[in-house]
Amino acid sequence: MSPNASDPGDGRWTHDDLPAMDGETVVVTGANSGLGLEATRAFARVGARVVMACRSTERGHVARADVEQEGVAGELEVRELDLADLDSVRAFADGVDAPVDALCNNAGVMAIPRSETADGFETQFGVNHLGHFALTGLLLDRLAAADGEARVVTQSSGLHEDGEMEFDDLQGERDYDKWDAYARSKLANVLFGYELDRRLRGAGVDDVTSVVCHPGYAATNLQLRGPEAEGSRLRVLAMKAANTAFAQSPERGVLPMLYAATSPALDGGEYVGPGGFRNMRGYPAVQESSPASHDEGDARRLWGVSEDLTGVTYDFTAAREARADGASGSAAAGD
Ligand SMILES: NC(=O)c1ccc[n+]([C@@H]2O[C@H](COP(=O)([O-])OP(=O)(O)OC[C@H]3O[C@@H](n4cnc5c(N)ncnc54)[C@H](OP(=O)(O)O)[C@@H]3O)[C@@H](O)[C@H]2O)c1
Repeated sequence: MSPNASDPGDGRWTHDDLPAMDGETVVVTGANSGLGLEATRAFARVGARVVMACRSTERGHVARADVEQEGVAGELEVRELDLADLDSVRAFADGVDAPVDALCNNAGVMAIPRSETADGFETQFGVNHLGHFALTGLLLDRLAAADGEARVVTQSSGLHEDGEMEFDDLQGERDYDKWDAYARSKLANVLFGYELDRRLRGAGVDDVTSVVCHPGYAATNLQLRGPEAEGSRLRVLAMKAANTAFAQSPERGVLPMLYAATSPALDGGEYVGPGGFRNMRGYPAVQESSPASHDEGDARRLWGVSEDLTGVTYDFTAAREARADGASGSAAAGD
């Protein structure tokens, strides 16, 4: 990542403080809508090449055209990624051919009726957590190949605070509540993001860091998907009204993710969200996540379960060696 990311130091970090990212590659999941689209726009404005990972390439191309008509500096590439299908995750990762400077694990679904992914996982846990767990592990070598610091950012939610891991019914087979399942998946995002950072440090993988963020409350399509899936037009209208009345714009909601992806003030292992009213709006700030999110026993257990379910194991040794090779290569180039 660019070493020149600026921090105004007054707690009012905005789009204007994003560093130049020419020559850098950022992967954004869910890049066609809401916060992923705003992140794509922001990274492309400052020159990054953005790999737009979209469940529907058709929607991805519409989003890409929307960003490109601004005349952004960065190059955009739309690639298919369905986080509800591990074959799609593998195919996507196989096709990422360049070093990755930042991976934004952003895509998500909220409070939908129970359904299952192609691999038989409850969809909210499968898409929000397991798909991203697999994707990150499969891209670890490309993150390790980045020139400077590389960062994994995982988008959680303030609702992770309501989450309970319930390892004996992770897939909600015995008892499914759509909000509990969402909160659990978002708690899993935080446990994963922290555990990834600990494992990277423990394995001596220099300068690949993991940060967790949340957007507060931003008006996007997220709030509409559950009522749409339930066929409730009334609740879709109610959600739209609530978004208009209470939510911040996606342009504001994306600030924590942009800050988490680029700020050199972060060491890894932080939780970043809007620092204003009830952490629902405002400028990015490092915050405290729930006590449950700091349970290292649960984090290790979740990691093991996620490896078993996805069949993806992280090769930290190869990542460390790639970092060491890269560092000695750049030192030699600088001689
Ligand atoms: N907005 C908020 O207030 C809020 C608050 C807390 C946390 N968040 C988190 O922010 C993240 C982004 O949500 P958003 O608010 O920007 O909502 P959004 O506008 O609905 O965007 C969600 C994105 O995720 C994609 N997605 C859904 N299922 C997918 C799958 N199986 N494979 C790949 N992509 C998939 C969607 O693709 P399609 O367009 O094809 O459906 C869409 O691009 C989520 O992780 C959410 O939990 C948002």
